Amino acid sequence: MSESYDIIEHQHDVVVVGAGGSGLRATRGLADAGLKTACITKVFPTRSHTVAAQGGIASALGNMGEDDWRWHAYDTIKGGDWLGDQDAIEYLTKEAIPAIIELEHDGVPFSRTEDGRIYQRPFGGMTTHFGKGNAQRTCAAADRTGHALLHTLYQQSLKARAEFFIEYFAIDLLMTEDGECKGVMAWDLQNGTLHRFRAHQVILATGGYGRAYFSCTSAHTCTGDGMGMALRAGLPLQDPEFVQFHPTGIYGAGCLITEGARGEGGYLTNSEGERFMERYAPNAKDLASRDVVSRAETVEIAEGRGVGEKQDHILLHLEHLGPEVLHERLPGITETAMIFSGVDATKEPIPVLPTVHYNMGGIPTNAFGEVVTLKDGDPNSVIPGLMAVGETGCVSVHGANRLGSNSLLDLVVFGRAAAHRCTELVTQGAMHRADTKAAEEKALDRFDKLRHAKGSTPTAELRASLQDSMQKHAAVFRNIENLEKGVEQINKEVESFADVGVSDRSMTWNSDLVETMELENLLGCAVCTMHAAANRKETRGAHAHEEYTKRDDENWMKHTLTWHHGGSDVKIDYRPVHLQPMTDEMEHIPPKERVY
Ligand code: FUM
Repeated sequence: MSESYDIIEHQHDVVVVGAGGSGLRATRGLADAGLKTACITKVFPTRSHTVAAQGGIASALGNMGEDDWRWHAYDTIKGGDWLGDQDAIEYLTKEAIPAIIELEHDGVPFSRTEDGRIYQRPFGGMTTHFGKGNAQRTCAAADRTGHALLHTLYQQSLKARAEFFIEYFAIDLLMTEDGECKGVMAWDLQNGTLHRFRAHQVILATGGYGRAYFSCTSAHTCTGDGMGMALRAGLPLQDPEFVQFHPTGIYGAGCLITEGARGEGGYLTNSEGERFMERYAPNAKDLASRDVVSRAETVEIAEGRGVGEKQDHILLHLEHLGPEVLHERLPGITETAMIFSGVDATKEPIPVLPTVHYNMGGIPTNAFGEVVTLKDGDPNSVIPGLMAVGETGCVSVHGANRLGSNSLLDLVVFGRAAAHRCTELVTQGAMHRADTKAAEEKALDRFDKLRHAKGSTPTAELRASLQDSMQKHAAVFRNIENLEKGVEQINKEVESFADVGVSDRSMTWNSDLVETMELENLLGCAVCTMHAAANRKETRGAHAHEEYTKRDDENWMKHTLTWHHGGSDVKIDYRPVHLQPMTDEMEHIPPKERVY
C-alpha cells in the first residue's frame, strides 16, 4: 500500500448497508427491537432507488373482491416459470398481509376506496382461483408507492433511533479466516475518512445492477455494490442470467411507465394500430407477465411492426382513460411522459420499449435473509453474520421472472424477516472480538490501488463498453452465437479493468474513484450474468433462448450459482429448486405449461 490510512472504529449490533425499501424496513425493525443499528448508505435514504417504484405492492388483502394468499403464491410460482422456491414463496405471500397492515399503521399514505380501505389495482399475472379470474391485489399510493413507502420507513427508522451514515460508500466486507462476516469497511465521501464498522450481523441491501446495461429504469446508483462485495468475499451469485425487461420504459429515455398504467386499462399497439397482445396472451392480454409482454414487443418490432421513423418502438395508450383517472391514479407517469417524451398522455400514446428493470438473481439466502452457501454440500448452511435482502438477495421468490408489485413486497417482507432473525441471533451489546485484520488490509489495499490506478483505460470508457455488451448480448432474446460473443466481449472487459486509470487522487467527493469502484462491482455482476446465460440451454422466464425454445424441467429446473474468482475466471454450479412449501397450509404447485 502506498499510503497508510487512519481508520475510525464503530461498533454496532447490526449494520445495514443500503437505505432503500429493504434496508430501511430491516433498519426500522432492528432499531425498534432495541438493537444498536447502523444504516450505511451512499445516497440520502429518500433518494434510494425504491423512491422510483410506482405501481404498488402486492398483498392478498381482498379489498376489491375475493382473494387468497395461496392464489398469490400460485401466480408467483407460475410467473417465475417454476424456478422460484415454493417454501419462500409461501412465506412471501402469507406474510404480505401483516407486512402491509404494518406499513399502513406506520403511516404509508395508500390511495383509498370509497369506504376507506387500501385501494388495490390489477397487475400483470395476478389472478384469483389459481389462474381462473383476475385479481386486484396491488396496493397503491397513486403511482408513487415507492416514494410513500420510503419516506415512511425513513421516518420510522429515525423515530426508533437508528444511526444513519449518509453518503458513505461500502468498500468491502470484513470476513474472518473462518468465513464469518464481522463488519464492513466504508468511506465517508464527504470528509474523506475511512471507517471500520464492526457488527454481529451485516445486512446487504444495496439493490440490483441495472446500470450494467445501456438502457434501464434503474437509478445511476444501481451498481450491484453488495453483490460485488459478496463476490470478492468468495461468495456466489444465484441465477444472475435472469434479468427482467420492463415492457414500458420510455423510448429513448428508459424511465419507467408503471405497469399500473395497463392495470388501470392502458394497452399497447403496433404500427398497424393492432392490440397485438391479444395474439400472444389471449386471456391476460396486456397484463400477461413482463417477460411475455417484452418478448411480444420485441417480436413485433423485429417483424417490422414497430412504430416511429425507425420502426423501433411500441405505443402505450392511456388517452382513453380520461384526464380524471390519469390525474387521480397515474399523476406521476403523466408528468414523466411529458418531461421525457414530450407527450400529453391525456391526448396521445406514449412511445415505449422493453427496458432493463430488475435482477431476479442475487446473493442466495434462506427465507430469513441469511446468506446460504453450498459449503460441504449442505444447501442449508449459512454464512454466519451475513444477510442479504431485497434485490441484492435471491431468496428465490421470483424464480426466472418477477411479477410486477412483488418487488416492493419482497423488500418489506424480507427486510422485516431479517430484522426478526437478528433479534434471535444477536445479543444486544455483545462484545466484538473477531480478528478481521487480514480482510481489512485487503480492503484498504484495494482502495489504495484503485485510488492510485494509473492505467490507460478511463472508467467511463470501460463502463460504456460493458453497457453496450450487456445490451447486445444479454437481451430479451438470446442465442448461442450471440451469447458466446457476449462471453468473449465481457471477458475482455473484465480483464481490462486491470488497466483502469483514475485521475483524481483526493479523498473527498472523488466521483472518479467512486465510479471506478462501482464499475468493479458492475463488472463482477455482469461477467457472472453472461457466463450463466451462455450456460443455460433452455428457455425459462426472462431467459428466452432462440435455439433452446422450451422450458426443460428435467435438466434445468435448478438454480445457477456463479463464483467470480477475478478477471474472467467464473465458476458455475447448480442447486435444486425447493419444490415443497414451508407448511401444509399450502399445496405444492406442480410445473405445467405457462400460458397467459
Ligand atoms: O411497473 C411498475 O410499477 C413496477 C413495479 C415493479 O417492478 O414491481
